[in-house]
Amino acid sequence: MFPDGSKDYLERLARNADRLYTLISDLLDVTRLEIGVLKLIKSEFNLTNIVREITNDMKKKTYLSTKDNVEVKVKPNIKSIFPSSPIMVHADRERIAQVIINLLNNAMKFTNSGIITVSIKPAVHNFIRVSIKDTGKGIDSEIQPKLFQKFSAMSDKGIGLGLFISKNIIEAHGGSITGKNNNHARGATFSFTLPTITIKNK
Ligand SMILES: Nc1ncnc2c1ncn2[C@@H]1O[C@H](COP(=O)(O)OP(=O)(O)O)[C@@H](O)[C@H]1O
Ligand SMILES: [Mg+2]
Repeated sequence: MFPDGSKDYLERLARNADRLYTLISDLLDVTRLEIGVLKLIKSEFNLTNIVREITNDMKKKTYLSTKDNVEVKVKPNIKSIFPSSPIMVHADRERIAQVIINLLNNAMKFTNSGIITVSIKPAVHNFIRVSIKDTGKGIDSEIQPKLFQKFSAMSDKGIGLGLFISKNIIEAHGGSITGKNNNHARGATFSFTLPTITIKNK
């Protein structure tokens, strides 16, 4: 459909457009957070469905990675562990999606090749935990203490607003978010919790 070479060019264009869009919306979100106008638009939905949709979209994407100092296109290897029964939450669907996308993008950015595992598991009473585990380079020891602060990044791959925004979104829902290196294995795991809806029987 396209002449030789133009597919790569268009893909690069799309990636750059994506990056610019994220940068601008992240900057706007930080401003909204700082002046206290980040509003949540809550509804009831099945958390598993949204995690599955995002994971499936991500599986189709290619991203650039460096192998032996050469840029290569990689497709992420994402595995999922989801519960069979619906996990109902009362939350802002778009904002929760934003957090999941940010965590998955980070996992892909910092994992050149390897597996990313997305799981949804029960946490403490009436809470659910979503975890994104990677086998990448792990969290830099200098970054760890300020992981969720603004402009925490130490790479040319971002400016470090995603985790700050994600923490604010999750805490505004009554949940919590953590990020730490894996024990006895390469890579890092980021997890967040959210309260689930309890169906009360009369
Ligand atoms: N999965 C991960 N593995 C290793 N380091 C990570 C991971 N996720 C985040 N980080 C570190 O945390 C920093 C902040 O992440 P984030 O706030 O999403 O900003 P950005 O993606 O713009 O760099 C990253 O720059 C990186 O140093
Ligand atoms: Mg990020």
